Amino acid sequence: MSDKEERKVSGKKDAYRGRSSRNKSGSETKDNAVDRSSSVASGSKATGSRRGNQESKGKKTRGGSVEVQPTVSHILQLKGKRPIVGLTAYDAIMGRAVSDSGVDFLLVGDSVGTTLLGYDTTIPVTLDDMVRHTAAVRRSNPNCLLVADLPFGEASLSFDRLLESTRRLMQEGGADAIKLEGGKDVADDIEKLVATGIPVLGHIGLLPQTVKAIGGYRKYGASKEEAEDLYTDAIALEEAGCFAIVGEMIEPKVASELARQVLPPLIGIGSGEACDGQILVTTDLLGWSNGPVPSFVRPYANLNQIVSKALGEFVQEIRNRQLPTK
Ligand code: KIV
Repeated sequence: MSDKEERKVSGKKDAYRGRSSRNKSGSETKDNAVDRSSSVASGSKATGSRRGNQESKGKKTRGGSVEVQPTVSHILQLKGKRPIVGLTAYDAIMGRAVSDSGVDFLLVGDSVGTTLLGYDTTIPVTLDDMVRHTAAVRRSNPNCLLVADLPFGEASLSFDRLLESTRRLMQEGGADAIKLEGGKDVADDIEKLVATGIPVLGHIGLLPQTVKAIGGYRKYGASKEEAEDLYTDAIALEEAGCFAIVGEMIEPKVASELARQVLPPLIGIGSGEACDGQILVTTDLLGWSNGPVPSFVRPYANLNQIVSKALGEFVQEIRNRQLPTK
């Protein structure tokens, strides 16, 4: 049995915790790990994943007829079966619309800061903001998994503070799981959260909360060192028990290799098509934004134009004393 197959079997036994047999039994040697990390760096094909077309039948939604369950084990089990789809939502109206589209999970991202709250970055977004927006989305009764982002700074002070923040997102906001930016540096804390019963979605590659330190948004994984670091981060998150990992702005070849190598699904954003799933910021997708959208986004609508036309017509008609009637 290949290393990957062995890890998959172990992952099935251990539901979403996704811990590899390598980790539990210590059976993977350091050399193996290095070998696999350099295959990520070179983008070469390594252990094969069993991808198939075994889409499960389920409720008919706008996004097709597939089974969606609001559990982290469902997301984990989709790996290798069909692409996983996630979108962001920030209030009850968006929550309803996005859930009705048939997505597998909804993320109340701290992108609420740049999409709705008028900030330049996600850094000013507070825990209170995240709790309020998460609770609004929860009130839309989504029938998929609801994940809430941990905002800037909340993971950096102490584990108690981190635990308290996740408690608020879950108990006051109604989140099913939380997302936390970072790789190996935050893996120990994630492991403790998971042990406490808190499902965690990891996030590697571009980490928007570090924008002030890294000086802007860019692609990750172009150099061998960076590709290896990404591999180390992804494995650390797998071992910590993340049920899935967001990979943002990762070189597509590297992302493809990471998706093959790690047990939890890799959910890409700007990381190419070979990830186990994709997530996008919904307002970018809808063409409903204040500023430029990332280059990898293909808008499916132009709400800016539709809204501006509708509002302009209303204002004009009132000025012309044409009070609209039905
Ligand atoms: O905040 C957010 O919306 C995110 C996604 C871009 C993954 O982190």
